[in-house]
Amino acid sequence: MPDDPNRDGVLDACDLVRMFSNTVDEDRNGCVDPISGWDFFQDDNAPYDDVRYRHSTGEAKDSNDCAQAVVYAVAARCADTTASPSRSRSGARAPRPRTAVMAREVHLGGARTARNADGAIMASRFKNKVALVTGAGSGIGQAAAVAFAREGARVAVSDISEEHGRATVRIIEAAGGAAIFVACDVALPAQVEALVAATEKAYGHLDCAFNNAGIGGAQAPTGEYPDAAWSSVLAVNLTGVFHCMKRELAAMLRSGGGAIVNNASILGTVGFANSPAYVASKHGVIGLTRTAALEYATRGVRVNAVCPGFIDTPMLAGAGLTTNPAARAALEAMHPVGRLGTCDEVAAAVLFLASDEASFITGHPMLVDGGYVAR
Ligand SMILES: NC(=O)c1ccc[n+]([C@@H]2O[C@H](COP(=O)([O-])OP(=O)(O)OC[C@H]3O[C@@H](n4cnc5c(N)ncnc54)[C@H](O)[C@@H]3O)[C@@H](O)[C@H]2O)c1
Repeated sequence: MPDDPNRDGVLDACDLVRMFSNTVDEDRNGCVDPISGWDFFQDDNAPYDDVRYRHSTGEAKDSNDCAQAVVYAVAARCADTTASPSRSRSGARAPRPRTAVMAREVHLGGARTARNADGAIMASRFKNKVALVTGAGSGIGQAAAVAFAREGARVAVSDISEEHGRATVRIIEAAGGAAIFVACDVALPAQVEALVAATEKAYGHLDCAFNNAGIGGAQAPTGEYPDAAWSSVLAVNLTGVFHCMKRELAAMLRSGGGAIVNNASILGTVGFANSPAYVASKHGVIGLTRTAALEYATRGVRVNAVCPGFIDTPMLAGAGLTTNPAARAALEAMHPVGRLGTCDEVAAAVLFLASDEASFITGHPMLVDGGYVAR
């Protein structure tokens, strides 16, 4: 046990606050963590271990969640080698108990930490990075935007729906992250141009992009497929990705490199009856991904794609695929793991491909499909 200020034999959340905070305010028995923004404090006459906390937004929180907030603050500080030595509540400097923190996996709302070559926790894979996510108001895009922010990125949240996009920004800000909302229909090149410009204006540069916005479209055999539905699906799912990549590539070259992840689908790798436009658009996304990967491989930009299986999102519900029990069961049975995927499972793959851990991976369409394509 490297330190145990209250000598109760347990290195708990309260101890960690005291050991790691370098901003202890003795007068009010509290500290504001500069990285996470959480304000930890102790009420007068409260029991010694009854550390309470609130976020800088002023919203009071249930102290049961305190441990998660502290773990986030501690893990962020471990990754921040410039952080000052900590002080205990008495003002004495305390050693940083790195081994104690390294000894366990740290999870925060589903975020898994990574470890560097020395085994130290890197809770902030995207610290100082700027990430742009399209279609971030719902489903997979929202999960990815929140995950980027949770791991330290400042996020440009974009969606055609202002209401839903702003809701994602509120989720990020409530968790102590940084995000802006920029309304954008990816089918319109002028709006995409403005999106990338607004991101650079707000945050100075662009490091990562997740081109996720997409629609399902009508369901009909190819010989009967409505022309208008074909045009709109291709305009959003394929041309929209092109519009985004074109501007993101230019921005990333300006800032010295970056990583793009496009949202394709298992249906970018196999056929699926009655969805010709969707299937064609997603095959196109993979071709575009591979082509740009070749073009920019020596210029510091990696380009990859995720190919999710069926994921439980509003898109599937809207098509009646998950609201109807029989349809849902049939979809689940198509996946050897016997279930649909979750948005967080796709977001984890997106963040991996966008991170430096994937530095030798480019032009890759990564299946996140519970074995769907392996059948
Ligand atoms: N859900 C699945 O099973 C599944 C599987 C494989 C791939 N995908 C792909 O994942 C992506 C996200 O899908 P989801 O399931 O999370 O859907 P979703 O409907 O939950 O979210 C899609 C988001 O994109 C936004 N959007 C729609 N058209 C847009 C446009 N023109 N410009 C900007 N934003 C727009 C919507 O407002 C919405 O917020 C899509 O590209 C989809 O094809 C989904």
